[in-house]
Amino acid sequence: MPQHPDYASMAAQVRSLAEGDPRWLPLLANIAALIAESLDDVSWAGFYLLADGDAPARELVLGPFQGPLACTSIPWGKGVCGTAAEADETQLVANVLSFPGHIACDASSRSEVVVPVHGDGGRGGVVAVLDLDSHSPARFSSDDAAGLELVMRALEEGIRWDWQPGFGR
Ligand code: SME
Repeated sequence: MPQHPDYASMAAQVRSLAEGDPRWLPLLANIAALIAESLDDVSWAGFYLLADGDAPARELVLGPFQGPLACTSIPWGKGVCGTAAEADETQLVANVLSFPGHIACDASSRSEVVVPVHGDGGRGGVVAVLDLDSHSPARFSSDDAAGLELVMRALEEGIRWDWQPGFGR
């Protein structure tokens, strides 16, 4: 299994990216790039964001990512991402083929880790998830999960969710 990166310094990098530009779109795009660049053997790294809508229409919608084309929406509570969002708990899946309801955007995907992201500086509910996939079984360790949670805490503290692009106005 590849050695894990220095997650504390990755969290510090996220803090400094957020100080430079806290708007959610450029920040999430750069963090997806930072994560994809820092971890070996990762086939997809990115975010799904909570879209408007009450249960049962509640869904996660594809956000900034690095990797091949991906599913654009995931029902709340479904798949690894929807489960992490609904349960508000990191999901560490050694073998996606045995995860009930796994959504195979990429048929070669074998393991996955999904970390919830909270609003309101980290004090609010789940507003997004970070998703990492690998073609290798059991690619992610509990150290990776804990490290990525640390990085997401840094993101939650620095990000601004209230920014919107100017189109449509
Ligand atoms: N496998 C995920 C779907 C997202 S993609 O892998 C990029 C899931 O089961 O939620």
